[in-house]
Amino acid sequence: MPEDYETIESDVLVIGAGGAGLRAAVAVNDSGQKVIVVSKSLLGKAHTVMAEGGMAASLGNVDPKDNWTVHYGDIIEEGVYISSWKMAEILAKEAPSRVLELESYGALFDRTPDGRIMQRAFGAHTYRRLAHLGDRTGLEIIKTMEHQVIHRDIAFYDEMYITNLIKEGDRIVGAIGIKMNTGKIFLFKAKAFVIATGGSGRVYKITSNSWESTGDGIGMAYRAGVKLRDMEMIQFHPTGMVYPPGVRGLLVTEGVRGEGGILLNTKGERYMLRYSPEKKELDARDVVARANYREILEGRGTEHGGVYLDITHKGPDFIKHKLPAMYQQFMEFAGVDITKEKMEVAPTVHYMMGGIEVEPQTERSNVENLFAAGEVASGLHGANRLGGNSLSDILVFGKIAGENAAEFAKKSEFGKITPAKVKNEIQYINSFFREDGKNPYDLIDRLTSCMSENVGIVRDAEHLKKALEIISELKKEFSGVGTKGLIKYNHGLLGCLELSNMLVSCEAITTCALMREESRGAHTRSDFPKKDKNWIRNIITVLGEDGKMKFEVKPVDEMPGEYKNYVKPEVY
Ligand code: FUM
Repeated sequence: MPEDYETIESDVLVIGAGGAGLRAAVAVNDSGQKVIVVSKSLLGKAHTVMAEGGMAASLGNVDPKDNWTVHYGDIIEEGVYISSWKMAEILAKEAPSRVLELESYGALFDRTPDGRIMQRAFGAHTYRRLAHLGDRTGLEIIKTMEHQVIHRDIAFYDEMYITNLIKEGDRIVGAIGIKMNTGKIFLFKAKAFVIATGGSGRVYKITSNSWESTGDGIGMAYRAGVKLRDMEMIQFHPTGMVYPPGVRGLLVTEGVRGEGGILLNTKGERYMLRYSPEKKELDARDVVARANYREILEGRGTEHGGVYLDITHKGPDFIKHKLPAMYQQFMEFAGVDITKEKMEVAPTVHYMMGGIEVEPQTERSNVENLFAAGEVASGLHGANRLGGNSLSDILVFGKIAGENAAEFAKKSEFGKITPAKVKNEIQYINSFFREDGKNPYDLIDRLTSCMSENVGIVRDAEHLKKALEIISELKKEFSGVGTKGLIKYNHGLLGCLELSNMLVSCEAITTCALMREESRGAHTRSDFPKKDKNWIRNIITVLGEDGKMKFEVKPVDEMPGEYKNYVKPEVY
């Protein structure tokens, strides 16, 4: 097993190569500082592509009344009043510039008849606001940012799994990585660090997230003493595929409903008229997801456990032009022609509103040289995220994180690294190689089943407590996991390392869900079905000195008086 390692230095290390990581890297590069990007996956392979339907920005191209204050109000209302008002302001003001910047980088968007960027409707947005390229917007953004990174000659290490951050005193001084395809170990030294590793969607059995989203950034940050916030807030997207089993959970973009798709139960009822007579299919994601869930639970679902999503009335030309990926996805995976037949869909775990707590203007965490952006960070979306805001989020706050990390690096020196800390980390990696190790994927299977069964779309104390017992048992069993063979391309080793991070997310999600005794946004408690004024608060999770998870409840930052005019008052 390896004992040596190679040391690589940069001013800023960006961990993660989705839209947020790549935009952060571009910002560091623009500042003249040296940046390295590392990614567990391959360049271009990120959950960013799963934001298919568009990027929210109040350009006002289709609905001229739109502006940042309306977008701001929508974010706060959708976040059910526990978002960071400052992050909402920054996002609403900056998103249009990021769309135009993408265009200047060469990204393509659908156009209005007079040649401006087209914008489509999405749930709970007051106006048609999503700039899009068919239903492949995330893919277009990743390709565009990838192009920027390659052409700026930014160093990129793919298939590099960062196992842990090394902290000396109050600062992060390095990160240890395994190059999965060679087995070689690296020490990345940097003056500032940006975590942009996405969320933890894979802690659930049914999710739109691909294999990368195991909460690695959350795990490594937590172990380094970084505060997490709003971890109980998990977004269920109303529409994921339900069959064949291999693609269960795969996203069916909200763009389908944005373009006029309707939801039906097996009785042929357009049930959203009952749940949300005004907004119907374009109500907030939590409202539509719960409606789908209830229809299925109450026996009006399909044989595969879904409801119907129908867009056939729009005709083949429109569908193939506006929703080409959906057409292809259903045709290839399910043998369903969506221009002629209804889709079967059900809620799927899509996004984490919670994550690393950051200062809105800088994206800095409570550790002074550690920044975070994108889904791994928290604050903007509060109790629920508006569709299309993830793409704006990654670019707006990726840029801010990169700029501030670069600024910090400019004024700093490299920290000293105690060699024993590096050695310990290598020993930790090597400790998973054992003849009698339990298969980590058996534990992952139990963990994801536990989360889907007990910490799902509707929660209660009994199930949450049961989940905590299972998580605690799995934490004990974690000490026995292991793998055999060589370090190079060792999937078992990856499973062990990911599991340690998944357990952090699961414990935090479940404990915070148990603590929040109310229903707000994506967090629904059947035993506390109402919203509670006393819960306009955020729950903070942090590693205690005794090695145990600690929680703190704090009031939401109060928005300035004039901003209250942009938001409808909260109703109880
Ligand atoms: O439905 C979608 O296309 C997803 C978009 C998003 O999560 O922002």
